[in-house]
Amino acid sequence: MTRKFDVVVLGAGGAGMMCAIRAGGRGRSVLVLDHAKSPGEKIRISGGGRCNFTNIHASAKNYLSANPHFAKSALARYTPRDFLDMVERHGIAWHEKTLGQLFCDDSAKDIIRMLLSEMKAANVVLELQKQVTSIEKAPEGFRIGTSDGPVEAASLVVATGGKSIPKMGATGFAYDIARQFELKIVETRPALVPLTLDPNLLEKLSPLSGIAVPAEVRHGRTAFREALLFTHRGLSGPSILQISSYWREGDDVTLVIEPDLDIAAMLKTARKANGRQAAQTVLAEVLPKRLAQFFVEARGLTAHLADLPDKAIEGLAASIQTWAIRPAGSEGYRTAEVTLGGIDTSELDSKTMQAKAVSGLYFIGECVDVTGWLGGYNFQWAWASGHVCGDAL
Ligand code: FDA
Repeated sequence: MTRKFDVVVLGAGGAGMMCAIRAGGRGRSVLVLDHAKSPGEKIRISGGGRCNFTNIHASAKNYLSANPHFAKSALARYTPRDFLDMVERHGIAWHEKTLGQLFCDDSAKDIIRMLLSEMKAANVVLELQKQVTSIEKAPEGFRIGTSDGPVEAASLVVATGGKSIPKMGATGFAYDIARQFELKIVETRPALVPLTLDPNLLEKLSPLSGIAVPAEVRHGRTAFREALLFTHRGLSGPSILQISSYWREGDDVTLVIEPDLDIAAMLKTARKANGRQAAQTVLAEVLPKRLAQFFVEARGLTAHLADLPDKAIEGLAASIQTWAIRPAGSEGYRTAEVTLGGIDTSELDSKTMQAKAVSGLYFIGECVDVTGWLGGYNFQWAWASGHVCGDAL
C-alpha cells in the first residue's frame, strides 16, 4: 500500500526537523525519514555536548558560498532571535560564551527534546532506521521507495546533510539526488577541520604537541584570531578550523602567535633593562616554555640578549609572528565539522530552497553550498533554511 503525505523530509537533523515543524504547523501532513537510530545526532555531539546552537552576529558574511548573497534571504527571515525565542519558550537555560556564540547551559539534548516536542505538536510523523531505496518524479509530486514500502508526497525536502563524520551516518545522498535530477553541485571538501603536516615538519614540531596559544591565522586576505593548538598530527584549534575552510593544498598559512604583543619590542626592552638574560627566559614570560625554547633553538639564539643584534631579535620575533607553514592536507571527513560546497545555489530559489528546474523538490541545510564559520553559524543556517522551506510547503 502506498502511503500519502503532503511533504516527505529526508533527514532528521537540525534543518529537516525545523522544516517539518514549520510545514506541520501550517497544517501540512509531514513524514520525516532518517536511516539513523536517533534524530539530531550532530546536535547531540555539537559544541562539546552543549550545542553552540546559534550566533547572534550571524549574517551572510559569515558563510562561504559560490554565491555570497544566496543565504541573505533565509537568514533575514529566520534570525538567531527567532531560534532563541523557541529555546526560551521551552525553558532551556543558555549562555553566551564568546564572539556571540550561544550554548545550552546543560545539554545539547535539550535542543533535540525541544525540536521533537515541536514536531509532535505539529503532528509530524518521524520514522527512524528507514532506508530510502528510490526516488521518482510522479504525476503529482514524488514517489519515494523505502524499506517500509512506497510513499507519495507533493513535496520532497532533502535534508540529509553533508559528508562529514561518516561514522555517524553522514552520506553523500543529497548529492546523489541532485545528480539524479541533473542539478549542479559545487565540488565538496572537508571544512572546519584540523590540518596535517608532512612527516619531516611534524617530527620537527613534535616537541610542541599539546600546546595551545592565542594566535591569528592568515590565508591570503582572510584571518581568524582564536586559539591555535599543536597536535601530534599537525595543527588544530578554532583558528585553524576556521582557516581550513579557505585553505587549499599547496598553500601556506601564516601563524601570528600572540598577535596582540610586539615581541621584537618586548625583547629589545628586556635587553636594555638586563642584557644578561636569555631570549628564551624573556619569551617564556609570554609563551609556553616549550614554545619559547623551540623558537630560540630553531634560530640558535641561546646567547645573552646583550649579544643579540637588532636583526637577530627581529628575525626571532618574525619567526614567531609571521610563521609561514605549508600544511600537507587535512584530517578529512573523519573529523571535519562540515562539508564545504554542495548543491549549487544557482539551482535553488533563495526564498523557498526549491529547485528551480524541479517543482516540489527542495534542498536545505548543510547539503547546500552554504557553509558557515565555526561558532553556531552552521546551525543557524540549518534552522533558517529549514524554516523558510517549511514556510513555502
Ligand atoms: P545533519 O547532518 O545534522 O542531518 C542529516 C540527517 O540526515 C542525519 O540525521 C542523517 O542520519 C540523515 N541521513 C543522511 N543520509 C541519509 C540517508 N541516505 N537516508 C536517510 N537519512 C540520511 N554547528 C554549529 O552551528 N554549532 C556547533 O556547535 C557545531 N558543532 C559540531 C560538532 C561536530 C563534531 C560536528 C560534526 C558538526 C558540528 N556543527 C556545529 C555543524 C552542524 O552539526 C551541522 O552543520 C548541522 O548539523 C547540519 O544540519 P543538517 O540538518 O543539514 O544535517
